[in-house]
Amino acid sequence: MYQQLTKIHQRPEVFSVYTAETLWTEPHLANQMLQFHLNQDTVLASRPVEAIDRVVDWIDQSFGLKGKSVCDLGCGPGLYANRYAKRGAVVHGIDFSSNSIDYAQKIGSVDAVPITYQVANYLTAPLPEQQDLVTLIYCDLCPLSPIQRQTLLTKIRRTLSASGKFVFDVCSIDAFEGVCEGVSFGRNHMNGFWSARDYFAFQLTFRYDNEAVSLDHFIVIEEDRTWDVYNWLQYFSPDSIRGELKQAGFGTVEFTEGFGVDRSDVATFGVVAGA
Ligand SMILES: C[S@@+](CC[C@H](N)C(=O)[O-])C[C@H]1O[C@@H](n2cnc3c(N)ncnc32)[C@H](O)[C@@H]1O
Repeated sequence: MYQQLTKIHQRPEVFSVYTAETLWTEPHLANQMLQFHLNQDTVLASRPVEAIDRVVDWIDQSFGLKGKSVCDLGCGPGLYANRYAKRGAVVHGIDFSSNSIDYAQKIGSVDAVPITYQVANYLTAPLPEQQDLVTLIYCDLCPLSPIQRQTLLTKIRRTLSASGKFVFDVCSIDAFEGVCEGVSFGRNHMNGFWSARDYFAFQLTFRYDNEAVSLDHFIVIEEDRTWDVYNWLQYFSPDSIRGELKQAGFGTVEFTEGFGVDRSDVATFGVVAGA
């Protein structure tokens, strides 16, 4: 037991494992995440609808959505993509959760807005070309390692038209101060979030001070299997994200408080990058 607990408490090397696909696509978790997206009382997967409306208003006022080609990366159940399309944009949504894309397609057909949805991993799939706008909303750059971020940022830079903009939000370095290391353990931890079957789970929170990264490492123990989810979060300063964008070939970088400041569990800021 002592050896096992020692192993469980080990601090993983920063960004050593990527399990986002499990978190978003394992069938039980994909359903849970979809419910979180739609539930107005939790900010775990998405903002509440008034906040989404505010962000979309801001994007529309800043860039004019009508007639623009917009690629929404990590579009989830289409909460943004649908609104972009209703304002006249030609929208391509990409997400690796087929569960969320199914939902997005349903609300798209109810609203009769033509949107191209693609079930794919945006780190590896080719992106549509000559986009006027690419959005990556709700801090989706933050779970990625520095190498994955450079891969994605470089792809996004190449997919933009000459005057195209990349609009996204990130967790602010200010929020990193609030991260405390700790451990919790329980039967059916997080109210059955991790499995429909009986299970035990550990949640171990680590800080990586040199890198400004946090990790929530979940270890789920079911009768016949034990599995892990690693939730990494990179926290950014304006200078650190500017540096990464410049490295990926972006020429202009601006920051905005017009959106991204309303995520109640973590302070965020918005970024607009262009050629
Ligand atoms: C935090 S949610 C945000 C969803 C949406 N942007 C919103 O704010 O409502 C992250 C979404 O990105 C998707 N996602 C995460 N990593 C991805 C990847 N590498 N490729 C494709 N989709 C990804 C997840 O499935 C999930 O739907």
